[in-house]
Amino acid sequence: MLVRRLSLVIFLVYIILTCYFAYLLIYKNLKKPANDYTKFWEIEDPADEGWNPWGQEFEREEDRKVIKLATKPRLNWAANRSLDQYEKKKANLNAPGEYRVEIWGKAAIGLYLWEHIFQGKLESKMEGTWSSGFRKVGNIKFVFRTGPGVIPSKVPPNTEHVVLILNTRDEGKVEFARIWLDFLPKLRRLRLAIVILLGDERCRNDWLLPYMAMRGGLINYTYVVYDSPLVDDKNFFQWPLGVATWLPDETEQSRVAYISALSQSDLTLSPVGLNSESYRIYEAMSYGSVPVLEDVMTAGSCGAHPNASVAAAAPPYRLLKEMRAPVMFVRDWTELPAILDRERALSLEQVIERRKRLVEWYEHSKLKLREHFLTTLQRALVASPTKR
Ligand SMILES: *[C@@H]1O[C@H](CO)[C@@H](O)[C@H](O)[C@H]1NC(C)=O
Ligand SMILES: *[C@@H]1O[C@H](CO)[C@@H](O)[C@H](O)[C@H]1NC(C)=O
Ligand SMILES: *[C@@H]1O[C@H](CO)[C@@H](O)[C@H](O)[C@H]1NC(C)=O
Repeated sequence: MLVRRLSLVIFLVYIILTCYFAYLLIYKNLKKPANDYTKFWEIEDPADEGWNPWGQEFEREEDRKVIKLATKPRLNWAANRSLDQYEKKKANLNAPGEYRVEIWGKAAIGLYLWEHIFQGKLESKMEGTWSSGFRKVGNIKFVFRTGPGVIPSKVPPNTEHVVLILNTRDEGKVEFARIWLDFLPKLRRLRLAIVILLGDERCRNDWLLPYMAMRGGLINYTYVVYDSPLVDDKNFFQWPLGVATWLPDETEQSRVAYISALSQSDLTLSPVGLNSESYRIYEAMSYGSVPVLEDVMTAGSCGAHPNASVAAAAPPYRLLKEMRAPVMFVRDWTELPAILDRERALSLEQVIERRKRLVEWYEHSKLKLREHFLTTLQRALVASPTKR
């Protein structure tokens, strides 16, 4: 009797152990990424302490990292784990009817979207290798990721909906952006891809067209900064440049001096550069200083919009004009003395009232942008079929 019982126990233990090892084996295999990402080990070195979110926009040419394909990252920060595997399980679960949208910020305008338009928070991970933030709006769960650790080989491989924020101001940066765009087909479950592009200051963005869904690519629609002639409010929407609250060469002292100048100036003069739009415009508005914008067309294709003759859509500053921004325009700086004369005639109350209205307008404009972004996204989410 005792022998029979003992052998039964041994048999049961044997079965349990077999099942456990089989489970381990299967589980391990299941967890292996289905795609071959080795081609996409590349781009930035997460160990680079000098990385800053603005770096890809403001770095000098000679400083730019050589894009290395097919070489493994030097750092062994969990070579086999994607970024979402560092998060709490809860953050990764989706309730029925809920959408999860990944936002990958590879350009500073990503921070403008997340921190200023979405009022999202950011949490630094692994000593700044990357930062991430969560925000739930209605039935959409947004996960924002930015930093040098956000590379194609590390993003969640099961991503279904993505907003990719790229800087393509010059050819070198276009090359970098292409790595991301060429990577998108590797995301087998991808249903919806939206790009926010810091476009070329001369509005030469046609290289992007083959990546667009309208031409057989994967990008459903793109938001582009600057008065691009591509903007048709269907496949391309215009996006504001926003503010640059921190530049690499900025010291705390120069930052404080700049903000104090904006807060104390009733007007902020904004001469055109390569493009007419500049961070200065939005920075001034956020402090209630009225931008005086030079209303002249810069070189390139920015003025070539098919609707350029429609007053509300006339570049430059299409977006600001469409949104009726309370700014001033000059065609020539010789108009400035007349403007200053009018300023002198204003009472203190009038000036204060104007500042207040400008700040309110600016805050409201961010809300409107957010609303537009969400409405368009919501519609696209519903219309994008699930992939099996
Ligand atoms: C990562 O994968 C490689 C090969 O697939 C393996 O040798 C290594 O042990 C894995 N490392 C971790 C941390 O799982
Ligand atoms: C987005 O593009 C994909 C093709 O890449 C398509 O299957 C999907 O229906 C598109 N979604 C919308 C809303 O157009
Ligand atoms: C041009 O303007 C008309 C009328 O405002 C509008 O219907 C059309 O969609 C616009 N075209 C583009 C390319 O923006």
